[in-house]
Parts: sequence; structure tokens; C-alpha cells
Amino acid sequence: MEVVKKPKEMQTKAEEWRKSGLRIAFVPTMGYFHEGHLSLMREGKKRGDVLVVSIFVNPLQFGPSEDYARYPRDLQRDLQLAQKEGVDVVFAPEVEDMYGLNFQTFVEVTELQKPLCGEKRPGHFKGVATVVAKLFNIVKPHVAIFGLKDYQQYLIIKKMVEDLNMDIEIVGMPTVREKDGLAASSRNAYLNSEERKAALCLFKGLSEAKKAFLAGEKDANRLLKIARSVIESEPLVRLEYLELRDPDDLRPLEGEVERGLIALAAWVGNTRLIDNMLLGEDYRAEDHAEG
Ligand code: PAJ
Repeated sequence: MEVVKKPKEMQTKAEEWRKSGLRIAFVPTMGYFHEGHLSLMREGKKRGDVLVVSIFVNPLQFGPSEDYARYPRDLQRDLQLAQKEGVDVVFAPEVEDMYGLNFQTFVEVTELQKPLCGEKRPGHFKGVATVVAKLFNIVKPHVAIFGLKDYQQYLIIKKMVEDLNMDIEIVGMPTVREKDGLAASSRNAYLNSEERKAALCLFKGLSEAKKAFLAGEKDANRLLKIARSVIESEPLVRLEYLELRDPDDLRPLEGEVERGLIALAAWVGNTRLIDNMLLGEDYRAEDHAEG
């Protein structure tokens, strides 16, 4: 496995692969790998001849009062895990090589970035879309793999690719969960043991709503109430939002729903976590607990 730090070097390598007819699969990440990241790499191995994983904690997608400085990082451990998964190249650029002093070009997906996390984290998805567009231009992938745990991000990237005619297939993979159901996340590392236990109510709340949906409850408000009551009974957890939205365009759903995305963000102590489940969808609805 090779580690490439310079964008130009990565581009040259990608161009050579393309010239020899190889299909490039790409998994963008901010590192501190967990099983969710590894599941995307495994899918990438299946979908391409060569697999590139990027590790870049992107300052542009963090607000001024957010956790950019303390975001967990462990490059050596990540490289070992990537190697085990058969990754061909890890692209790990420096901030200075991604954003020069006079950087002034941004990508915004204007409507999809508005609700949910976009409302609570102004500028976040502009930072995500911009860095992913840059990474796509550097890695030149044929296919890129994203996790549905960040469902809004996945939709935004798909829309960017469609609107800007990027010739890249975007694949969404189901949320990988820890044994008890908590969605795997690099930010779980912030939780102390009490908070870790409390955080489980997010999965439980979503699961209860999904169970009710599968048992025939289709009323949007009642489904939300079921999830909310589970989560609000946990004193260490404060819901930031809990909403039921259309899984294609994120418009709010009311009344009877046949399919939907139930999505939340919540604070567990000083840690902000997100999670979601799809209601009435095919394979993507299967939220697997690990092991
Ligand atoms: P990061 O949070 O490191 O996530 C990298 C990829 O892993 C994303 O596609 C995310 O959806 C996926 N992922 C995270 N947790 C997952 C889980 N439990 N199950 C399945 N997939 C999971 O998302 C980002 O980085 C950044 O915003 C990035 C796209 C790299 C742009 O900076």
C-alpha cells in the first residue's frame, strides 16, 4: 500500500491508472477508522480494480465553535487498518496543499443543504461538497462509496455529481452499528462510559419508530412521538432535531407516510451524534448491528 500526500502526485497516478483501463474506486474519509469506514472499503474493493481511501480532516466543514482541533486522529492505526483491507493508495494531504492562501472557490447544493444538519451547522455542507469535489478531481474515481449514516451528505453528493455532470457513480452503504446498535462513529470516542450507555437511546428510539411503522403505524406525528419519548426519557441526551422527511429530496412529511427517512441529531454531553433509519425502503433499510 502506498501513502500519497501531494495532490499532484495523486492526480498523476490516477491518470496513469485510467490510461491503462483500470477502474478507480474511492472512499473519502476523515480517518480514525471504525467498522463503518471498513465496510465502505470492502465495497470499494468489489467495485474497482484499484481502491483509494482519503484521510483528511477538512477544516472547511467545521464551524468556528466545533471540534476541528480535537477531532480524533491516528494515522498510523488507520494505515494499518487500510492495509489489512487491501487498500491500494491512502491519499492523506496536508491542509496547506488542499487550501492555498487565496482559496476562493466553493460548491453549494443550495436546497438539500438547508434542512436538518444544514440548519444547525451553517456552512457545513458547503465545506463537504467543496472538499469532495476537490477530492474527486484529484483521485479521478469511476465510483465513490458513501455511508447512509450521513444520509443528507450522501444525497448532497449525489446531487452535486448530477448537477455538475461529474462522471462518477455514487454508492450508498447501510449504517454499520456497534454490537448494541449504536451507530459507529469516530465521535463515539468522545463518550465516557455513562454517556456511551445513554447514547444507545438514539438507536432504541429509531428502532421503536421503525417497529411501529412495520406493524402498520403510518402517521408521521405518531411515529416521531414514539422515537421522541424513548430518547427524551434519557436525561444525559438532548435532542437537537428529530424529523421525518422524504428520502429523495428531504421535504418534510406529514400525515400518512409510505416511505420516509427518520433522522436525528442529539447531544450526549458535549458530543453531537447523528443517526437515521429508512422506513419502507428496500435493502438500504436494513440497519445491521455488527457481529
Ligand atoms: P467521515 O465521518 O470520516 O466518514 C467517511 C465515510 O464513512 C462517510 O461516507 C460516512 O457516511 C461513512 N460512515 C461513517 N459512519 C458510518 C457507519 N456507521 N456506517 C457506514 N458508513 C459510515 O463523512 C465524512 O467523513 C466527511 O464529511 C467527508 C465525506 C470525508 C468529507 O470531508
